[in-house]
Amino acid sequence: METKVGIIGAGPAGLLLSHLLHLNGIDSILLEKKSREEVEETVRAGVLEQGAINLLNETGLGSRMMKYGHLHHGIEIQYNNQRFLLNFEELIGKKIMVYPQHEVLKDLIAARMKANGKIIFQANVTSLKDIDSSKPKIEFEVDGEKQELICDFIAGCDGYHGPSRKALPKELLREIEHVYPFGWLGILAEAPISNEVLIYTYHERGFALISTRSPEIQRYYLQVNPNDQLSQWPDERIWSELHARVDLNGWTVQEGPIIQKDIVKMRSFVCETMQYGRLFLAGDAAHIVPPTGAKGMNLAMGDAQVLAIGLQHYYTTGNEQILNKYEKIRLESIWRAQRFSRLMTDLLHHNNKKTSFEQKIQFAELNYVTTTVTGATTIAENYTDISVNLPAELQKNLTAIKS
Ligand code: FAD
Ligand code: DHB
Repeated sequence: METKVGIIGAGPAGLLLSHLLHLNGIDSILLEKKSREEVEETVRAGVLEQGAINLLNETGLGSRMMKYGHLHHGIEIQYNNQRFLLNFEELIGKKIMVYPQHEVLKDLIAARMKANGKIIFQANVTSLKDIDSSKPKIEFEVDGEKQELICDFIAGCDGYHGPSRKALPKELLREIEHVYPFGWLGILAEAPISNEVLIYTYHERGFALISTRSPEIQRYYLQVNPNDQLSQWPDERIWSELHARVDLNGWTVQEGPIIQKDIVKMRSFVCETMQYGRLFLAGDAAHIVPPTGAKGMNLAMGDAQVLAIGLQHYYTTGNEQILNKYEKIRLESIWRAQRFSRLMTDLLHHNNKKTSFEQKIQFAELNYVTTTVTGATTIAENYTDISVNLPAELQKNLTAIKS
């Protein structure tokens, strides 16, 4: 099998890249180890930044999102039994979209199918070969049968555990990791909507987040010990913690049957080596952020955008200039998103290892972002629009890939 761009992984990074390449007449084949149903059903992220909303709309992917997604004008931050609205629209004229990641993936897969795009599901990539040559190869298995895909470029969009990053020469790896002493227990509940906008709550019992999926399904998160098991969190304990952390006089978290639960450990990770030869890493394969800043899916889409621009430029001019800048361009956004995700994590989680000085600073910070225009504006700018953006020099190339 042969193609121009071999893409590994049908997450937001891989699927968006294949869509953008298709808009520019560049062939790709996407290999995904899960089934289409599994990809379309896995519950993960929920928030899209302004740049991601625009990109989906401008590349023909926005109609279901605009119909079923929820545009939010801001978020609320709660601490010490007080709730503050940070109105992003009023502060900076930007909004966010609450639209589940698996719905974005459904839209992308439908668009690729409509265009006769080639996605091979249940194709498990086992190794990457000759990545420093002009004809790299991907070895994969379908139904136990070994196959090979020969391409010009490989896009490793296979998440943190995928094989792409492992194919980079060890001596060239520049990896940086930071582990937080927190986990998030996430649930989906069949309940009516609790609040018009997301509520990020600091409480001495731990952080809590009120989000939504639809008028009938709600998404809630609780800070837990990263080593906790789901068996330690029966439904009654979850509800009692949510009420204890978020309820205010006259306002209560809406309850209903819990239909899904998961626990994630929180960490920051960046593999700064995002390119080697003809292999490019994108999305979680290269970086992980703690979820408090809602950046992971957005960063994956930002990577796909720049990679698509670089490949489009290469196939029209034969010049690898933009591709060679991919790593540098994306690391700027990635580190800004890491900074913001860490700031939000530190601001909103309870850490009983903090000294009283550090705890006082945390409250001063909460006070600053909720009661001053400057503090709130900083949150607004970072929350709504840092992951999917381009240096001015690439703006004209963006117009080219969207047309
Ligand atoms: P993935 O979505 O992980 O896709 C990688 C794909 O590669 C997978 O489908 C996998 O099956 C496939 N793959 C792996 N190995 C192989 C192989 N050997 N062969 C073939 N295929 C392979 N982000 C936000 O922006 N906003 C949020 O609000 C947000 N909230 C989150 C909440 C939680 C609880 C979690 C866990 C994450 C959240 N994120 C959020 C992060 C976001 O979900 C991820 O950053 C995003 O999925 C990354 O996309 P990706 O395309 O890089 O990788
Ligand atoms: C959601 C997840 C996040 O990590 C976040 O910061 C906000 C919302 C969500 O899943 O809805």
